[in-house]
Amino acid sequence: MKQYYRHKVLVAAHRGDSKHFPENTIPAFESALALDIDMIETDLHMTKDGEIVLIHDHAAGRTTNGSGDIKDLTLAEIMALDAGSWKSDKFKGTKVPTFTDFLELVKDRKDMLFNIEFKDYPHLQGDRAYYSCDKAIAMMEEYGIAERSVINSFSGELLEYVDKKYEGKYKLHGYYPTELMGEGLTRDPYEYLYTICIFGGEKEVADKEHFDYAISRGVEPWVYLGEEKPDTYKSALERGAVLFTANDPQKAHEILKELGVR
Ligand code: G3P
Ligand code: CA
Repeated sequence: MKQYYRHKVLVAAHRGDSKHFPENTIPAFESALALDIDMIETDLHMTKDGEIVLIHDHAAGRTTNGSGDIKDLTLAEIMALDAGSWKSDKFKGTKVPTFTDFLELVKDRKDMLFNIEFKDYPHLQGDRAYYSCDKAIAMMEEYGIAERSVINSFSGELLEYVDKKYEGKYKLHGYYPTELMGEGLTRDPYEYLYTICIFGGEKEVADKEHFDYAISRGVEPWVYLGEEKPDTYKSALERGAVLFTANDPQKAHEILKELGVR
């Protein structure tokens, strides 16, 4: 993917420009697309009737005026929800986007990279999770973004499935500590990952040895630090982070510019 990099260290918009707009909605993605950043991150779930929509939580309650799990709601039921008012009245009426809406929005942005997170998990949903994953990958291929994307999941089981089924074709994104990737892993994730998002746990930034280890295994160390703070950004940069996933991507860009890597 390096051929696509415009900056030395990259910035990804976490659920779009989620600090300023309702996360995972078209306004949040439009705002992110207008910034001098490199990547957009988003979360996929499959509806009861087999459509892929963009929403972070398994349940509709936190970010819409609805309730119940996405897997138990039809597309029509989800389309009737308001996914903006929870953030601010000024976003009232904003809809949950379908993956097709997102792909139509981004398809001509050949300069943009994508972090597509698969939120339907085999340990919770069995074969349904594999169906959801295969459908989303087919859509990424149809719209020509697969080559510029990482496929992200907290389910190591799902990532193992993708790696095997598609014979290593896709760049896979996992997590440190690898316990976050669930139980029942049959492989060492560093064998197949392209990148690992390194969480610090109790610490704001994980110890350097975890960055060094990823690099020694040929896996890119990325971070998601929750807040865009110059001190923590500097620490992560010094440890070797090469991509920052940010709720405020413009601020992330500015901090990294100040640090001389953009
Ligand atoms: O890159 C970090 C991101 O994948 C974390 O995602 O779904 O926990 O907000 P999430
Ligand atoms: Ca995510």
